[in-house]
Amino acid sequence: MSEKAEIILEGKKYELPVITGTENEKAIDINNLRQETGYVTLDSGFKNTGATTSKITFLDGEEGILRYRGYPIEQLAERSNFLEVAYLLINGELPTKNELDAFSEKIKMHTLIHEDMKRFYEAYPTYAHPMGVVASITCSLSTFYPGSLNPNRSRDKVDLTITRLLAKFPTIAAWAYKNSVGHPVQYPKNSLGYVDNFLSMMFSLPSQDYEVDPVVTSALDKLLILHADHEQNCSTSTVRIVGSSQANLYGSIAAGCIALWGPLHGGANQAVIEMLDLIKQDGGDVSKWVAKAKDKNDPFRLMGFGHRVYKNFDPRAKIIKKACDDVLNKLGIHDPVLDIAKQLEEAALTDEYFVERKLYPNVDFYSGIIYRAIGIPVDMFTVMFALGRLPGWIAQWREMVDNKEPIGRPRQIYTGATTRDYVNIAER
Ligand code: CMC
Repeated sequence: MSEKAEIILEGKKYELPVITGTENEKAIDINNLRQETGYVTLDSGFKNTGATTSKITFLDGEEGILRYRGYPIEQLAERSNFLEVAYLLINGELPTKNELDAFSEKIKMHTLIHEDMKRFYEAYPTYAHPMGVVASITCSLSTFYPGSLNPNRSRDKVDLTITRLLAKFPTIAAWAYKNSVGHPVQYPKNSLGYVDNFLSMMFSLPSQDYEVDPVVTSALDKLLILHADHEQNCSTSTVRIVGSSQANLYGSIAAGCIALWGPLHGGANQAVIEMLDLIKQDGGDVSKWVAKAKDKNDPFRLMGFGHRVYKNFDPRAKIIKKACDDVLNKLGIHDPVLDIAKQLEEAALTDEYFVERKLYPNVDFYSGIIYRAIGIPVDMFTVMFALGRLPGWIAQWREMVDNKEPIGRPRQIYTGATTRDYVNIAER
């Protein structure tokens, strides 16, 4: 007999179906709850709510497990590459060699962005935060490719929209950086791989080509893989919910960029470095800042610590900590904030407050240190996260479209004033 949950409301018993995922995750299906009982559920921040069924990413926060399409993140980070992972996430299976070659060739054919879009960059002030620029230029793609406005077109047309996005996003991102430093933009070089091409557009100058360093490429490739998907987080849920209104892919991804921007989500990597710099400038007394983080009257939090779902360790942090050491050793960089980071990590890992609340360093605690070593400025950190998360957002958007999911529209419990009569302004 299939499992059921029982709920008693106003003395009446209702049965609710229980559904079980392939990894034995259980959920009470409340799809018909309101219709049958008149009740809704209240779950601020959706901490207990499954918004969808999904075949893309499995993560178990208690055990520190993360898998894309069944493949452990550790194996993908060690043996795959970002474009292959993008293909896997979006199409569901690892590509054959021919499929991967064709996928990457198609991407290479679309790396340029329309020359008219260059004028948008010229209009932004150089102090514009690159995340704001990247989100708005990404949304603008929908104006240059009006065919993308209908997300229900044939598969090959949607594939073209997806290819364009994967191909142009590194260009959009690198040009946002060039704009912020007042340098001329650098055009894509299709002789280079995806990651090297991005680095080249970031760091080449008209007078000097960027020389690709395989250590840097490999670390960045790993970072992008680690960020490529993370199931129903804030930005991904945003992409799905915006897309559920049948808004186009470019607009949905732009919305995801904005959701990612916040310091509690993708903006944390920037916040980590800013925090480490602040502690350094303040004299480097780590214990003072740990005490501040524990003080409930102080809004300060240790950035890069804690996670909504990982309550044991963040498997991505484990992998990236090693890559971080490798890059710094290989490049011979001694970053003084690293000492502070290490002290902070040690202090927090042994402090009762952090242990009790299962607050461990997350992926963003280390990613910022790598970005900085590579020469990527702090303002670009969240853009780097977005570059990595792009295939995940696309895969989740496509799954939502394929599942024909209804428009996202949560309920609420109204707690405001009950009905009252309008009072004329003179009488108030
Ligand atoms: N420093 C100090 N205390 C913290 C921290 C922190 N970084 N994170 C959580 N806590 C405390 C919090 O005050 C609360 O204490 P109490 O139970 O006494 O009220 C308890 O731990 C639980 O915290 P919460 O805010 O209820 O947990 P959450 O699941 O809602 O928030 C989080 C998760 C990631 C937003 C939060 O841990 C945080 O703000 N971390 C710092 C920002 C950060 O590093 N974000 C990046 C996440 S990884 C990238 C990504 O996937 O988006």
